[in-house]
Amino acid sequence: MQSDFHAERASMLHVGIIMDGNGRWAVRRGLSRLRGHEAGVEAIRRVVEAAPDQGVGTLTLYAFSSDNWRRPRTEVAGLMALLRFYLANEVQSLVKNGVRLKVIGRRDRLPDGIAAAIGRAEQATAQGRTLNLRIAVDYSARDAILNAAARLAGAAGAPTRQQFSDLVTGEADLRDVDLIIRTSGEQRLSDFLLWEGAYAELHFTETMWPDFDAEHLAEAVSAFHHRERRFGGLDALPLAPAASL
Ligand code: FPP
Repeated sequence: MQSDFHAERASMLHVGIIMDGNGRWAVRRGLSRLRGHEAGVEAIRRVVEAAPDQGVGTLTLYAFSSDNWRRPRTEVAGLMALLRFYLANEVQSLVKNGVRLKVIGRRDRLPDGIAAAIGRAEQATAQGRTLNLRIAVDYSARDAILNAAARLAGAAGAPTRQQFSDLVTGEADLRDVDLIIRTSGEQRLSDFLLWEGAYAELHFTETMWPDFDAEHLAEAVSAFHHRERRFGGLDALPLAPAASL
């Protein structure tokens, strides 16, 4: 049985975005890398606002990977401060726009107070029905798969794909990701949505994330609709059935 929330999104796309290029965007302008990340937050606002009108029901944004801890301490601290700021200041507008926020990834390594702020933001936006916004923080797709497997260790019998999927994604009946966009010309997945993205279409653009806007999203979604998705069969399917494949 699909939960109501995800049943409502059955005909809407799940788009994932690897928001890359903030640092280069800033350095090219003689600015600090952190200024690039700040401009990246403005791009998040634009895309969150534009997504529902483009048929996107779920948007998963890669904000901080578990490997990003290896960046210089000042940059990590800056990114965490931005996340804190986003959670404190964005909730009102998310609620107003009907956005439900969920943060995926580990919370136990985040600086003091951020896990609690995430919990508050998720609770405040829980009734949102226009967009399912998922922000990946301290996220690793391989760890998500590993954790799901560990939770099943000792269970009798093999899980169904749907059961395993629910554990990996942390959401019952989340739609598989249809389209993964990566900005800044890089062409790799970097440990993002490896399970949910088994049949995702990939869209790579030279645009740096801080320059990304509603038109770039529309271009990616339009390109997606021109792809023929056969899911291993011979006939094109208009939209993917979720994890049941
Ligand atoms: C990749 O660009 C971007 C990141 C590692 C961070 C993405 C973060 C944001 C867009 C803002 C913070 C998010 C929230 C929700 C507050 P890069 O720094 O690797 O760019 P580069 O490849 O040009 O160096």
